[in-house]
Amino acid sequence: MRRPLITLVVARASNGVIGKDGGLPWHISADLKRFKALTMGTVLVMGRKTFDSLPKVLPGRRHVVITRDRGWRADGAEVAHSAGEALEMAGDEPVSVIGGADIFGLFLPLADRIELTEVLADFVGDTFLEDPRSTGEWREVERQDHPDEDPPFRFVTLERA
Ligand SMILES: NC(=O)c1ccc[n+]([C@@H]2O[C@H](COP(=O)([O-])OP(=O)(O)OC[C@H]3O[C@@H](n4cnc5c(N)ncnc54)[C@H](OP(=O)(O)O)[C@@H]3O)[C@@H](O)[C@H]2O)c1
Repeated sequence: MRRPLITLVVARASNGVIGKDGGLPWHISADLKRFKALTMGTVLVMGRKTFDSLPKVLPGRRHVVITRDRGWRADGAEVAHSAGEALEMAGDEPVSVIGGADIFGLFLPLADRIELTEVLADFVGDTFLEDPRSTGEWREVERQDHPDEDPPFRFVTLERA
């Protein structure tokens, strides 16, 4: 089967936190800009909770939302019930997997690339992701440091080792 290019796009604190109370624990406008640039024109694949956390449907991108609830519908969302179904719906278009933790877990074995924002501080939160580099399956191909921001962060691109 032909498969689209799959990129995980994730921002993660030093202590593994990626979410708090249904939202992000930080506000980093450079990261939001990068998210927009990376995902524009791609198919967004996300969990139902992440879809619910968006302030609105994001322009210029299809939203494929994964849920177990066969009755779930929302304006602007195409509904899938598994990773395979989401990929089928994407067809040949590049896919950006944008979370949350459950959905990153589903797609990590399938992903070609990870666009990681390392938020270089610890945060209190309720949603966590392991560092994808801990398995040795990923190698860094690009890095951009922003040490003087508050919080400091780093953009890292990972590809399969
Ligand atoms: N820092 C980041 O990069 C980032 C990115 C995205 C989200 N977040 C944050 O993470 C939090 C939300 O993430 P989350 O991990 O709690 O939720 P999520 O992954 O966005 O969504 C979880 C939902 O996805 C559906 N689902 C999960 N596994 C499934 C499977 N195998 N088959 C079918 N459906 C499945 C279920 O929906 P139903 O309950 O409808 O069945 C489940 O409740 C928020 O705080 C958000 O702001 C952070």
